Amino acid sequence: MRQSDVKKERTLVFLKPGAIMRGLMGEIITRIERKGLLITALKLVKLSREKAEKLYEMHKGKHFFEILIEHVTSGPVLAMVIEGPNAISVMRNMVGKTNPLEAAPGTIRGDYALDVTKNVIHASDSPKNAEREIRIFFEENEIIHYSEIS
Ligand code: RTP
Ligand code: MG
Repeated sequence: MRQSDVKKERTLVFLKPGAIMRGLMGEIITRIERKGLLITALKLVKLSREKAEKLYEMHKGKHFFEILIEHVTSGPVLAMVIEGPNAISVMRNMVGKTNPLEAAPGTIRGDYALDVTKNVIHASDSPKNAEREIRIFFEENEIIHYSEIS
């Protein structure tokens, strides 16, 4: 990878209700911190059906849509804005494949999940979706601008 391919990005991550209920918040936040990514906003929220459907609007009509909406509205989610070099693809690689049965060990889904709906974590898949999803959870003034300690 060339230096010019490295871009400072931000992405929207949230831990699904199953992860909160299982007490996995700390472990997963630790992985994000250890990687060196910055958490620039963080909040525990109960998603309304309306917001959940907006978040997953690209999946409307698919066979898993209803069960997915039911799960993400069943309890609190921990939403975060994560910033860093190529943060979108770096987070997606840390998260692993959608189906935890196929996700590699060492990835979050590979290490913590077996169920495709309760697959622990969501991470944005493109800069456009990251900005769209960040706006569903956060006002711009809730995102803190700071740099890592050098
Ligand atoms: P996410 O958006 O949650 O980060 O996950 P992803 O990009 O890896 O997967 P995506 O295709 O966007 O699907 C969104 C969520 O829907 C559930 N799903 N179930 N039963 C199924 O075949 C199926 N496929 C997807 C998963 O919970 C996935 O995270
Ligand atoms: Mg997705």
